[in-house]
Amino acid sequence: MPLMDEAIAFAHENRESALNELIELLAIPSVSTLPEHAGDVLRAGEWLAERLRALGMENIDIMPTPGHPVVYADWLHAPGKPTVLVYGHYDVQPADPFDEWDTPPFEPTVRGDNLYARGASDMKGQIFAQIKALEAITKHGDPPVNIKYMLEGEEEVGSPNLGEFVRANKELLQCDFVLNCDSGIQGPELPGIVCGLRGLAYFELEVRGPDHDLHSGFFGGSIRNPLNELCRLIAGMHDAQGHVTLPGFYDRVKTLSEDERVDLAKLPHPDSDHLAMTGSPALWGEAGYTTIERTGARPALDVNGIIGGFTGDGSKTVLPSKAMAKISMRLVPDQRGDDIRACLEAYLQANAPDTVTWEIRELAHGDPAITDRDSEPVRKAIEALKTVWGVEPVFKREGGSIPVVSLLQQELGVDTVMLGFALPTDGIHGPNEKQYIPNFYRGIETYIRYLYSL
Ligand code: BES
Ligand code: MN
Repeated sequence: MPLMDEAIAFAHENRESALNELIELLAIPSVSTLPEHAGDVLRAGEWLAERLRALGMENIDIMPTPGHPVVYADWLHAPGKPTVLVYGHYDVQPADPFDEWDTPPFEPTVRGDNLYARGASDMKGQIFAQIKALEAITKHGDPPVNIKYMLEGEEEVGSPNLGEFVRANKELLQCDFVLNCDSGIQGPELPGIVCGLRGLAYFELEVRGPDHDLHSGFFGGSIRNPLNELCRLIAGMHDAQGHVTLPGFYDRVKTLSEDERVDLAKLPHPDSDHLAMTGSPALWGEAGYTTIERTGARPALDVNGIIGGFTGDGSKTVLPSKAMAKISMRLVPDQRGDDIRACLEAYLQANAPDTVTWEIRELAHGDPAITDRDSEPVRKAIEALKTVWGVEPVFKREGGSIPVVSLLQQELGVDTVMLGFALPTDGIHGPNEKQYIPNFYRGIETYIRYLYSL
């Protein structure tokens, strides 16, 4: 049997143990944004490093950063073959609201064809499928390419230390292209390649009024309530057409060409399906654009949370002294994370009254990215997907963000192939996140075929 077929057969025979090992990884609550989980984040990184060691990877290193570490490993004994940098992240988003989970987020549970756990789809299921593919390959021979791993623990907080890490380790990370497993496909039976990601700029906006909470009877109507004012400011950030009103916000947004619009319109993503995934009463968005354009090719501004005043049971009559909102903006080419703070500041300078004071804190930002659709590594990924699924794969510009993609384009001049198997219906970042198990297995096979095809 050819080596590749042996590897595929091995992966097939060992499906169950692969799933059980994934369950072990998912039980580690590696929530990068919560300081109390820092030890768990490290443990998840160590767990992966151990797996890489077991399959013969070399130079395994858990490299510190000012935040969570980067796990590095390589195997570079395929002279004349390309060098692939495999990217993944082992951190996850917080699991709340906990009471909306049918089974606890860090007690991975199989129900039907799905494995439920925080991080199952985003992205422990994807990076582990890739590692299992390499394991199956190494059972029968050497890897067919040179391979490096860079697994980070801070993607879900915007990769704040990865820029410095990459700049300090350019030599180590040198490669022909990046295989980014933090990706998805369009449907259980519709494979594809992500060829664009939105960027992100994330801020806290704090509005302050009186220097302590006030009785809303003595003072209500005479002092500006910062919570009212924060809400008014937020409301003004969109106009009636759904456009963002921050000055200069659209200055660098690339106009969609007719060709691109025709391309996007071909994606089988009916509005009814999009709406059904959300449980919302109706669609909403920027006038003049389709749903797929709104999420893939147009920027967006969202409030992620608001804190302020009394939120306990019952009523308390209080005029709060301050209020805070967490506001994020999804960016598209050629917007730059660096420029967005000035747009927000200009808006607040023009619109905030002198009855309150305000302050913004920048939490994270990452640039948008467009990846090549015609390179050889992309064509081969399309081939592998087509072989495993038996249908023609599609290209999609994704609305989510992965800061490393533009970072590696800018710092190393290398492009990325986005190949992963998350589904739009997996509920990533929400309650009851799941990995569709058949695609975990098909993912392993795809990665095996892909590596051999290089
Ligand atoms: N894996 C996602 C991004 C993604 C989602 C890619 C769907 C393809 C399809 C990634 O882990 C993620 O959620 N990123 C955060 C990044 C942010 C904190 C900088 C995001 O998009 O909110
Ligand atoms: Mn992810």
